[in-house]
Amino acid sequence: MALRFILAASALILHVIAAPPQAQAPLFPYAKAVGSRGPSLESARANAPHIFNALHSSMRQWGSSLNHNGMSLFPARIPNNTHLYHGTHIPNAVKGMEWLAFEIEHAEMFARAFPGRRPGRRPGKPGDPERPERPERPGEPGEGPPTPPFELTWGETVDGIQSMDDDDDEPDFSRGYLHIYRTIRPLTNLVYIDGMSAGKTMMGTLDTQDYLLRNITDGDDSPAFNDFRRGQDLCDLGAKWGIEGFVRMEMGFEIIFCEFSDGLILESAYERPSGKNQSFERMPQLEVLRGASMRYPGITAQRLRLDYSGMVSAYWYDLNMTNPDPERADLPRLPASDVEGLGNMKADFMALFEESSSRSDVGNDWQGVTDMIITRYSDRLQLMAGNDTSRDTILSDIAVLLNLYIDYGNFDVPTAIEKCSAHYLIAAVPESTADHMIHEALLTVMNEICSTLFYVRHLILVGEDETDRSALEESKLALKSLIAYLDWTTSKECGKCGYDEICFVAIWPWGSMEDHKHPSCMKDEVLSRRQGYWDMWGLRPRPPPGNETGSAADGLW
Ligand SMILES: *[C@@H]1O[C@H](CO)[C@@H](O)[C@H](O)[C@H]1NC(C)=O
Ligand SMILES: *[C@@H]1O[C@H](CO)[C@@H](O)[C@H](O)[C@H]1NC(C)=O
Ligand SMILES: *[C@@H]1O[C@H](CO)[C@@H](O)[C@H](O)[C@H]1NC(C)=O
Ligand SMILES: *[C@@H]1O[C@H](CO)[C@@H](O)[C@H](O)[C@H]1NC(C)=O
Ligand SMILES: *[C@@H]1O[C@H](CO)[C@@H](O)[C@H](O)[C@H]1NC(C)=O
Ligand SMILES: *[C@@H]1O[C@H](CO)[C@@H](O)[C@H](O)[C@H]1NC(C)=O
Repeated sequence: MALRFILAASALILHVIAAPPQAQAPLFPYAKAVGSRGPSLESARANAPHIFNALHSSMRQWGSSLNHNGMSLFPARIPNNTHLYHGTHIPNAVKGMEWLAFEIEHAEMFARAFPGRRPGRRPGKPGDPERPERPERPGEPGEGPPTPPFELTWGETVDGIQSMDDDDDEPDFSRGYLHIYRTIRPLTNLVYIDGMSAGKTMMGTLDTQDYLLRNITDGDDSPAFNDFRRGQDLCDLGAKWGIEGFVRMEMGFEIIFCEFSDGLILESAYERPSGKNQSFERMPQLEVLRGASMRYPGITAQRLRLDYSGMVSAYWYDLNMTNPDPERADLPRLPASDVEGLGNMKADFMALFEESSSRSDVGNDWQGVTDMIITRYSDRLQLMAGNDTSRDTILSDIAVLLNLYIDYGNFDVPTAIEKCSAHYLIAAVPESTADHMIHEALLTVMNEICSTLFYVRHLILVGEDETDRSALEESKLALKSLIAYLDWTTSKECGKCGYDEICFVAIWPWGSMEDHKHPSCMKDEVLSRRQGYWDMWGLRPRPPPGNETGSAADGLW
C-alpha cells in the first residue's frame, strides 16, 4: 500500500514536471538565435521557489528587504493623478532627471535644512573646522560607531559633494523644500528593478543595474554610492528604449524619473523649518522607518501596477548565480563576467518591454496567485511542522487543506495532486514567454506542496497507532523540508508591534545581521544603534586588491 502510493505519486510528479507548455509561446529573439543560453522551462523549474518569491515580494518592502538581491525586471505603470514627493534645497520645479519618493517621510529626509550652513557653501567643506563633519540626518546616531555614508541630495553623497568644485548654482543647504508632484498623465513606460535596488551596497543589490543594464564588468571600479552617475546611465539607456523612469526600493519605494518636465506638475514646494522656525519631530528614524514599514505588504491604492507578463528574471536563464562570497551563499549574484548570458537577458528584456508598452493594459496578476497560495498554506504549514504539534492537529489541518481535491466516492491520489497543484493557477492565462516561465515555476512549487501534503496524510494514516512516533517525526521532517524549500518571507513577520515600535528588518542603510535574520519589534532608542549589515564599500577604504577577506557581512562600522 505504502509502496503503491509512493510510486503513484512520483509517477505523477514526473508527469507534471515533464509536461510541455500548453501553447507554444513565441520565444525571445535570443532564445531562437542562441538556443541553450536563452530562457528555459528547465531553469524556471530549477529556480521555482525564487521565482515564486520574487513575484510575491514585488513592490513590497517586506520581502524585498529580506531577499534584497533582486534578479528581475518588470515593466511598470503609474496612474494619472498620483502624488510623488521630492526633497531638495531649492524651491523651483525640477527639470531633467531627479528622484521621487512614494512616501512623504522618505522625501522629507532630503528636504531638511542643515542649520549653520551659509548660503552657497557645501556642508562640511574643508576649511570649516568648527562645523560638525556631517550634518544631522534622521537615524544617525550621535555617538558610537562611525556614521554610515549618506546622500545629502538624492543620488549624491556628502563626500561626493565635498569634492566638487565651487560653482555659482550650488544649492543653499540652509533651506530645505518639500516638493509635491502630481502625475498629469499615466506614466506607462517605467521599469521596476526588484530587491533593495536603491541600496548602495557591494552585496549584490545593484547587480541588475550595474552588471546587466549598465554593462559594468567585474574589473570596473564603480563605487556603490555613485548613484547620480547610475541614474544618468539608466536614463541614457531609457532614452534609447523608450523608458521614462526606474522604480527602486530603499527605505521606501522611489523613482529615478528621467524628465520631470514631461508628465509631472509641481503642486507645491513648501519651505521646511530652519533658523528660528522649529521642527518638532522627535523620533525621526522611527518615523521614517515606520513610513517604510507601512508598505511591507505593498504601497497600496494601486499607485503602481506591474506587468507580470512582461517580467524578465535571471532565474529563467542558465546563469551561474552562485555568490562568490561563500558566507553569503543565501544571496544570489549575477555573473558579471558572463557577457553573453547577461547580454541575452538584456536583449530579451528590451523586447518584452516593447511588447508590454504596446499593450493597452498590464497582463496576468501572478502576484495575486502567489497571495492566494501563501495565505492558504503558510501559517498552516508552520503549525503542522511545529515540534509540539500533535498527530490530530496535523490530520485536521491536512483535511482542511486537501479535502477540496478529494472525491471521497472515488479517491485517486495522482488526480488529487494534479487538482491541488493547478487549482490557483487558472486565474492566469499564459500568453507571453514570461507567463509560461512563471506558470512552470508556480506549478513546480504547488506540486511540491501538494505531493508533500498527500505524502504526510498517508504517513499519518498508515501510522494509525497513536504511539507511532516515527510516522509523526517523518511527517514533520517532510513538512520542515518543504518549508525550507519554499523559503516564504511570511515566516519572519513580527505580528503587530506596539504603537511606539516598528517590526524592524534590516533596511538599507540601517540594521544589523540579527535584524536581517530575525526581525523584531523595536523602539526608536534601540533602532539608532542597529547597524553593520550593509556593506557599502563605495565609501569605505577598499581592501587592497586580492585581499577580500572578511569583507561582506561583518560589522562594518
Ligand atoms: C489627468 O488628470 C487630469 C485631472 O483630472 C486631467 O485634466 C487630464 O486630462 C488627465 N490626463 C490624462 C492623459 O488622462
Ligand atoms: C554591453 O556589452 C555587450 C558585450 O560586450 C555589447 O555587445 C553591448 O553593445 C554593450 N552595450 C552597451 C549599451 O554598452
Ligand atoms: C518662521 O519664521 C519666520 C521668521 O521669524 C516667521 O515669519 C514665520 O511665520 C515662521 N513660520 C512658522 C510656520 O512659524
Ligand atoms: C559558479 O560561480 C561560483 C562563484 O563564482 C564558482 O565558484 C563556481 O565554480 C561556478 N560554477 C560553475 C559551474 O561555473
Ligand atoms: C524542534 O526540534 C528540532 C530537532 O529536535 C530542534 O533542532 C529545534 O530547535 C526545535 N525547535 C523548536 C522551536 O523548539
Ligand atoms: C588582508 O586583510 C587582513 C585584515 O585587514 C590583514 O590582516 C591581512 O594582512 C591582509 N592580507 C594581505 C595579503 O594584504
